Amino acid sequence: MSDSQPLFKRVAVIGLGLIGGSLAAAIRRNGLAGTVIGVDKRHEEPALGKQLGVIDEVAGSVEEAVTGADLVVLAVPVKATRDVLQKIRPVLSPDAILTDVGSTKTSFVNDVKAVFGELPANVIPGHPIAGSEKSGIRAANPELFANHKVILTPGDVVPEAQVRKLSALWEGCGATVLTMSVAYHDEVLAATSHLPHLIAFSLVDTLAGEDENLDIFRYAAGGFRDFTRIAASDPVMWHDIFLSNKDAVLRVIDHFSRDLDRLRSAIADQDSATLLQVFSRAKAAREHFSKMLSGQAYVTKNPQKQVTFRVQPGGPITGDIRVPGDKSISHRSIMLGALADGITEVKGFLEGEDSLATLQAFRDMGVTIEGPNHGYVRIHGVGIRGLQAPRGPLYLGNSGTAMRLFSGLLAAQSFDSELTGDESLSKRPMGRVADPLRAMGAIIETAEGGKPPLKIRGGQALTGIHYDMPVASAQVKSCLLLAGLYADGLTSVTEPAPTRDHTERMLEGFGYHVHRDSATASVAGGGQLTATEIDVPADISSAAFFLVAASISPESDLILRHVGMNPTRMGVVTILRKMGADIEVLDERIIGGEPVADLRVRSAELSGIDIPEDQVPLAIDEFPVLFIAAACAKGRTVLRGAEELRVKESDRIQVMADGLEALGVETTVTQDGIVIDGGQPIGQGRVNSHGDHRIAMAFSVASLRAGGEIEITDCANVATSFPGFVELACKTGLKVESDGPEGADE
Ligand code: S3P
Repeated sequence: MSDSQPLFKRVAVIGLGLIGGSLAAAIRRNGLAGTVIGVDKRHEEPALGKQLGVIDEVAGSVEEAVTGADLVVLAVPVKATRDVLQKIRPVLSPDAILTDVGSTKTSFVNDVKAVFGELPANVIPGHPIAGSEKSGIRAANPELFANHKVILTPGDVVPEAQVRKLSALWEGCGATVLTMSVAYHDEVLAATSHLPHLIAFSLVDTLAGEDENLDIFRYAAGGFRDFTRIAASDPVMWHDIFLSNKDAVLRVIDHFSRDLDRLRSAIADQDSATLLQVFSRAKAAREHFSKMLSGQAYVTKNPQKQVTFRVQPGGPITGDIRVPGDKSISHRSIMLGALADGITEVKGFLEGEDSLATLQAFRDMGVTIEGPNHGYVRIHGVGIRGLQAPRGPLYLGNSGTAMRLFSGLLAAQSFDSELTGDESLSKRPMGRVADPLRAMGAIIETAEGGKPPLKIRGGQALTGIHYDMPVASAQVKSCLLLAGLYADGLTSVTEPAPTRDHTERMLEGFGYHVHRDSATASVAGGGQLTATEIDVPADISSAAFFLVAASISPESDLILRHVGMNPTRMGVVTILRKMGADIEVLDERIIGGEPVADLRVRSAELSGIDIPEDQVPLAIDEFPVLFIAAACAKGRTVLRGAEELRVKESDRIQVMADGLEALGVETTVTQDGIVIDGGQPIGQGRVNSHGDHRIAMAFSVASLRAGGEIEITDCANVATSFPGFVELACKTGLKVESDGPEGADE
């Protein structure tokens, strides 16, 4: 900024409290304006501001400050806004931007309209979501907005360029800018900021009024202190905020009061189920707050999710490890446990973001779920008809499995629902489930092209159908079988090739019969599920990274414990063995209806092969790392019949080919597969994983045979299926470092 023109020539900041002062200081610190001029009705503040270096110049009046300014920032108490606007109006240049920093936007807009007669095109209401319980210019802090959000609520008539200019100012102060409507802003803030302040003020006041107040305050521990910190905020400011956002605040107070009353009754009636349900739902929501909510509605981008892996050549791969629980089985354990009668206990549950999204969604539908605690989960089943309407859309993060299976289940409920997901999930095809569900009588709306969000109308009576699946998809099959539990008559699905059968096995485990006749699975509607115990095996899809790693890295010898060996998931083992891998299966056993074994894998010379097409659905998630095995093998590997890979979390054929190319490995991409000539040297370089967890982990494995460092970008989603990947990989001999924030891979 310093070698070119500053963004604004002259910024007038009216009101030099904490926010006005901090913004002035941040603008100066970051060279965003030629001059920052300040004015405040408390005469000593501007002088102090100049002395502290917060502003460049002191104005004697609002009129003097505004004259000649190209940006005017109103940072006065909400209730003083109208008077100040009267003074601004005659001297405000038509080209200047007028903005504010108040916590309520409807009242600001009403004040502007009252004074100007309309909402002029140069007015952009704003609200930085930053602050502290401190007040006054002495507390001004140029860092106050760094890594905070600023909401702008421009009307339709505001030129785009002006919004961009004001956004650039806030971004220059370190903030992230979001835009939304005035009404939505006020609703959101009433719930997330105004209500908590009201409760804090009220609680402290109530306790301070008690006779024993001294003792209460003396003995008040961390909880009281944490909870009530904001009760030390500026009373006048908050008085103004509540009165000016009256309608939205009253709505949220009513809602809260109803919920508080319900808790009161639950305590009075010794109603443990309700108490446990509310507390465990709240605990989970709080714990997964930033992860789960960051993808929602009004937050479009999450810069904190940028995670990069840097991987050095490493190896050999040795040790004795257990990878996290199977993702497919974890999802299903929550779904069927929730619909069962009784309490289902799950061990080995995958605490990854995808299965946690499923868990949270069932909590949102009124199911009490304890845990997860080191993979242990207790689900208080509500029975097949016991789900309740969620309060809002169910956010399913990155998980295609969740969205497709939920659609079947929700199509049959008495309530409406909406399913949303992150950027990747929002691009994935849902017509493949919506179409056959519609044939059963469901009413489902998708976005254009059959993409999410899915809006599902409740209260429809479903009728069983027979469906010949055009693609081999366990998700589609499972979706229809789940809908079939509620449908009148028989629902049967024929698959063109075998796909994973966890839904069928687990339904049987819950006492619900699934009829199997070669390629067709059928259920009759109207039955019940009975709670059971589930021991989730380690995920073969996560083990696959280590099967390849130990195969391609010389001198390796690794044991993988308790790996799920379901025959419909064995493609990766079959393909690797065909390529010459040395994989030994030890101690095969059946646990909870699923085959499990320990695997020992040692380094081997791999050779390229024509991958048998019947193995494609059986190894559908393992191809990214199989491509790495192919690149390290002698000779040519050819994959055909795998166009499904193009609609996974990313286009896995293209993204893998691009990543290999970035490392100097040429491949030939076809519509339904790829040709890889093994033995080309793998170089160093940077690979974009496109937010696809399996691509990120596959290239981490490639490092074992690379000439130098591989940098892999956009890796946060590794946490969807494999929490703790970096740590476990390092334990075996890979040299991966993650430079992102914790959370991606804790
Ligand atoms: C899954 C089925 C597969 C797989 C996905 C999980 C499941 O998808 O890719 O990761 O749990 O049913 P498709 O069945 O759509 O191929």
